[in-house]
Amino acid sequence: MPTPEAGPAVPRAASADFLVDFPSGARTRVVVGPLSLLPELSQGLGVRAGLLCDARLVALHGPALRALQPAFGDLLARPVSEDRKQLVEVEAICEVLSARGLGRDGFVVAIGGGVLTDLAGLAAALYLRGVPWISVPSTLLAQVDAGLGGKTGANLRAGKNLVGAFHQPRVVLCDPSLLATLPGRERWSGLAEVVKCALLEPAMLDVCEALLDRAAAGEPDALAPLIEASLRHKARVVSADEREGGARAYLNLGHTVGHALETATGYERFTHGEAVALGLRGALELSRSLLSGSDHARALRLVQRLRVQPSTRLDPAERERALQALTRDKKAKDGRIRFVLLRALGAPELAYVSPADCIRALDAAVS
Ligand SMILES: NC(=O)c1ccc[n+]([C@@H]2O[C@H](COP(=O)([O-])OP(=O)(O)OC[C@H]3O[C@@H](n4cnc5c(N)ncnc54)[C@H](O)[C@@H]3O)[C@@H](O)[C@H]2O)c1
Ligand SMILES: [Zn+2]
Repeated sequence: MPTPEAGPAVPRAASADFLVDFPSGARTRVVVGPLSLLPELSQGLGVRAGLLCDARLVALHGPALRALQPAFGDLLARPVSEDRKQLVEVEAICEVLSARGLGRDGFVVAIGGGVLTDLAGLAAALYLRGVPWISVPSTLLAQVDAGLGGKTGANLRAGKNLVGAFHQPRVVLCDPSLLATLPGRERWSGLAEVVKCALLEPAMLDVCEALLDRAAAGEPDALAPLIEASLRHKARVVSADEREGGARAYLNLGHTVGHALETATGYERFTHGEAVALGLRGALELSRSLLSGSDHARALRLVQRLRVQPSTRLDPAERERALQALTRDKKAKDGRIRFVLLRALGAPELAYVSPADCIRALDAAVS
């Protein structure tokens, strides 16, 4: 059998490539395709780049990342983690950019999970009062959620993402082949956000139902259409509501109970996506009982396919903490708690529900 000759790598083509325009005038080019497209996509952005990269990725995808050095200079590897997602790391990144000699005509390229892209995006917003940046998210959660929309940030002791800035990346490049090295649990976590989008965007449902298990197994051909569909959905929402004054809130479907579960279990038991998967069950239960809508059975079947690895059983203290977190939600009004509910597939609504309904949602989530 003839063996292919090892010639220069020909970049594979993008499977999706579209522009998103924001009310602020910013424009983001969204591409689902191979990392090797990055030099071409960054043309015209600036003369010198700061190539920031999640250190774990360098260990896992070293050759593909080092192949970017001729175009962008040395890889600036950052060992990041959620508990070090702090302003001190943003400052350290700015110092690295400065040491690299980045001027006003420079730009930042951020390759990594949501922690790295949030921190690097914030550094790009602050460095020299703002330089352009490219987001290359490398986890499924970051590809379908954190990459697009311009929210950047860091944590404070009092809570997550309490400091930040809106700074739209010029390009978001999502390479599904990077996801092969993600632990299966992290892929399921990202798929919870994909399923959330499918509930908000019925055109996505058939493809989501068909490809969910293959995507969870890490098959790039199954992941690419789901990433694209989720990004197109998020693009439609955030381009109409850049600063979360309206429809962007619907992207919080499943997150009210999800955040309460994360808080109650100290952010240790569940991944964010697992908490969202459970939160979606709670939101669907309330939707079924409070709204006279349809399709809830189909929605619930899809949500129940999301794998949640740890035990969902809450001990009494955890349940109490979850209820406290729910009822102390900062978006509560007159003792009623804000939920995103689903009247039907593709028809979300904001509702203010009673504490008793919150208990019902929580119990449905973890039952
Ligand atoms: N800006 C936004 O709109 C937005 C939206 C959602 C979430 N977020 C933020 O994103 C963060 C969560 O993102 P995350 O889930 O990507 O977490 P993460 O960045 O911590 O990544 C999870 C783990 O996967 C590793 N990793 C990254 N890419 C990998 C790959 N290809 N193969 C193997 N391992 C890889 C990372 O090093 C890390 O250990 C949170 O801080 C959250 O606040 C932001
Ligand atoms: Zn989320």
